[in-house]
Amino acid sequence: MAKRRRRWRRQRCCSSDPPLAVAAAALLLLLLVVVTAAPVVDAAAAGRHVVQRHLDRINKPGVRSIHSADGDIIDCVPRHKQRALDHPLLANHTVQTQPSQMPASASLLDRRQQLSRRAWQTWHHSGHCPRGTVAVRRTAASDVQRARSLALFGRKKQMRSPLPAPDVVTGNGHELTMHAIGNLRQHAIAYTAAEVYGARATISVWAPEIDEANGFSLSQLWILSGSFNGSDLNSIEAGWQVSPELYGDNRPRLFTYWTSDAYEATGCYNALCPGFVQTSSRIAIGASISPVSSVGGPQYDMTLLVWKDPKLGNWWLSYGDGAGGLVGYWPAELFTHLSDHATMVEWGGEVVNTHPPGSAHTATQMGSGHFAAEGFGRAAYFRNLETVDADNSLAAVPLDAIQTMAEDAGCYDIRKAYDDDDGRGGWGAHFYYGGPGHNTASCP
Ligand SMILES: *[C@@H]1O[C@H](CO)[C@@H](O)[C@H](O)[C@H]1NC(C)=O
Ligand SMILES: *[C@@H]1O[C@H](CO)[C@@H](O)[C@H](O)[C@H]1NC(C)=O
Repeated sequence: MAKRRRRWRRQRCCSSDPPLAVAAAALLLLLLVVVTAAPVVDAAAAGRHVVQRHLDRINKPGVRSIHSADGDIIDCVPRHKQRALDHPLLANHTVQTQPSQMPASASLLDRRQQLSRRAWQTWHHSGHCPRGTVAVRRTAASDVQRARSLALFGRKKQMRSPLPAPDVVTGNGHELTMHAIGNLRQHAIAYTAAEVYGARATISVWAPEIDEANGFSLSQLWILSGSFNGSDLNSIEAGWQVSPELYGDNRPRLFTYWTSDAYEATGCYNALCPGFVQTSSRIAIGASISPVSSVGGPQYDMTLLVWKDPKLGNWWLSYGDGAGGLVGYWPAELFTHLSDHATMVEWGGEVVNTHPPGSAHTATQMGSGHFAAEGFGRAAYFRNLETVDADNSLAAVPLDAIQTMAEDAGCYDIRKAYDDDDGRGGWGAHFYYGGPGHNTASCP
């Protein structure tokens, strides 16, 4: 760019011999600069103000700030001053500090889970937040500036498609192959359709490579209710994601998402809009997770549980084992269909392919970047798939109640297994999933 500009200047200088032509050109240039420069400067100045105002809304002042080695700043925000409570539907909300009860679970499973290696949050090495505060990742100006628009910052781009849904979508009533504006989302997921009140899974943590600046790769669970073809879908989502656009790096980060209108006007990632009420001073949503798994090396995983408080109807999230892992909750007020129960749970991966149709598929990886068939140690997994019943107890999901789907198994695929089918005793229903995206053999 700079080189081209220099060459252009040199050409101008050498071809403009007559002084009159130089003067005329200079005048024209000056005019052009005056006419175009003023609005550009104004827009830039306004942009800075707008960005700062946006940041002031997002970042509530903390009583302490922790500088993490990964570059994040974690603010310890008084619980009652967190951004969630700016939501108009929460005007009369009483902040909860814990659920009325945890779901009952099979203790044998819990003991086994504690024996495996757990991934945890990087910022813990640098400090901790005092009681009565919540740990919040501070949003930087650069985070906002990477977004294509302020309105889209922190939100999933609209998933609706003007294109007719393919058979796989209408076949199971599922919104899967929707085109975001010019973008195709690709999934490799397991799902179960039933009346459920929550779900739990243990998810291996990886740092997949992202092919484009605005691409992402995530691994999560979805708690869903409403219709997939209308505008009333309620979704609660949590997992880890790598998103250079949202966070400015390639680290996997704990994230949450919610919507009550099929991703249209409501909801966002993390605390980037009001809604999700955090209770934890130990777990920061949006903060990076470490260590991560490596191919042929140690596998690190994390357990996520989302369930509905049977008394108050709030949907709680816990990360890790036991009550110490409570993160916070999505208040009942936010939802329509989910104020009762969920009708579907999904577990798995999602990437976005921003390459235009007809060009090569994105090489953004899902999971470890390896296909499901490579199994333990090489492919990413979800293990111990469970759902929460109406009586607030966790139950292992039988393998035949789980269906799997991948839009393009040559790019990303999924393979389910049960307990020690593949030598993984104690894993219950589980699956491997993921892939490299673009490859000459199966994903052109
Ligand atoms: C909060 O309470 C006030 C007074 O009772 C009521 O007018 C208002 O509608 C309530 N707001 C919400 C969001 O429930
Ligand atoms: C959505 O799908 C359901 C069930 O397949 C159908 O009854 C309904 O008419 C559809 N609604 C729209 C808006 O297409």
